[in-house]
Amino acid sequence: MQDFGRLNPFVSELEESVKTILNSITEKFDNNSDSINSKLMNLKEPDELAKEFEEIIQRNGNRITLKELSKKILEYTNNAQLPGYAGHQNSPPHPLAIAVDMISRTLINPNSVYELSPSGIAIEKSIVNWMCRKIGYGESAGGVLTSGGSLGNLTALLTASHVKIDNDIWKEGLHSTEPLSVLVSDQSHYSIKRAVQILGFGEEGIEPVETDEGYKIKPSAIKAAHERSLKKGRKVFAFVANSCSTATGSYDPLNEIADYCEENDLWLHVDGAHGASALISEKYNHYLNGIERADSIVWDSHKMLLCPSLCTGLLFKDGNDSFKSFTLKAAYLFGESQERNWFDPLHRTVECTKPALGIPLYTLLAVLGEKELSNYVESRYDISKWFIEKIKDDENFEEALVPDANIVCFRYKPANKNFSLSELNELQNKIRDKIINESNFYIVQTILNGVTYLRLTIINPLTDESDLLKLIYLIKKIGIEL
Ligand SMILES: Cc1ncc(COP(=O)(O)O)c(C=O)c1O
Repeated sequence: MQDFGRLNPFVSELEESVKTILNSITEKFDNNSDSINSKLMNLKEPDELAKEFEEIIQRNGNRITLKELSKKILEYTNNAQLPGYAGHQNSPPHPLAIAVDMISRTLINPNSVYELSPSGIAIEKSIVNWMCRKIGYGESAGGVLTSGGSLGNLTALLTASHVKIDNDIWKEGLHSTEPLSVLVSDQSHYSIKRAVQILGFGEEGIEPVETDEGYKIKPSAIKAAHERSLKKGRKVFAFVANSCSTATGSYDPLNEIADYCEENDLWLHVDGAHGASALISEKYNHYLNGIERADSIVWDSHKMLLCPSLCTGLLFKDGNDSFKSFTLKAAYLFGESQERNWFDPLHRTVECTKPALGIPLYTLLAVLGEKELSNYVESRYDISKWFIEKIKDDENFEEALVPDANIVCFRYKPANKNFSLSELNELQNKIRDKIINESNFYIVQTILNGVTYLRLTIINPLTDESDLLKLIYLIKKIGIEL
């Protein structure tokens, strides 16, 4: 009865389109791979580039071909697939993960309700369960996949406020309770501060907890921060720890923090967006000792698990808490029973429609195996420690700290020159500008206690020791020229 023949034009157009795009990608990489001195990225004035793209869709007739368009898009992308990419915390996606994502884009658009995406939703549960097992959570754990660590952090803090605050603030609003606050590492990602303010707790809703010289929470500073917030008339209901922090990749001491939270009835949320992936490494999972005591955890697969953007595990020690984030009524989707089942994830996420986020990571686990991913994580952490030793051995460099993870901060500081702090800070900025504009490396910078550092996230699996030695050489060369 069904006329699948009608789908043939769809399938052949898809095949043609994929071939065209694949050719453009191949061309891009071929051009880059032998041009060792070419730039990693191509930057144009934002207004100029935006105008060019706008012009393309405003044309009357004279449509652009897919080949021309894909080339144009690829001309202005930051090339995270090349070994010189050592910038932000986004892993270059694995080819398997990219390819399998097409299934989701082709056939299963909404991964919100079971009947719309049975395999997508079953796979989501497998990923959530896998993450919960790696954390060391018990049988009652659970969670969902969501669109990014920032949204995961927001949802976790919303859930925490519903569980820990007696008044029904979801129904009655925030004015039904006393002012609330959250204890947060002074090294937290900005999404935490943003989440607290979106939730309406205000600026004072964030109480920073001091960190030590390694940018890890000082357990001795927690009580003081708690008391400061109480003095401001706040009820402190949650604590956010880093595993690991964004700027320096530092892991907070979770057991000490969990002790404090248990003694003081605080919800413990661990932001593991970047660093929870070390859980799959036998060598480095000790950084996360105590994580199984957290009430909620965020873990991104688009950072250290080679997946395309984006897929975040939002995980709860007590899986029932995941159903307390929202008490939304949408009978047309949930059915009249309002039954809160696990297989319609929209009960528990901000998103209504979301892609089948778990498919890329599931494929890597199923086809490559966890060991491959673990080797990747370990190799990136190992090479970062190797790199910092090179920096320490060179009198023209200074490290900010010895990194736990694969985030490395250091600065060029010529041994035979006396520069002021501001001159040195300026020098790092100029070096980075030259590196990203004139070499085939991409690096970033950060400011720690008023000192500007060059910052690498050594995240590309292809980046090896020889690339990093080249980078050191280049920085020195540029430094001398400047
Ligand atoms: C520690 C930490 N938390 C949260 C985030 C935000 O995650 P996402 O970019 O997935 O929203 C980041 C991003 O770098 C991060 O480093």
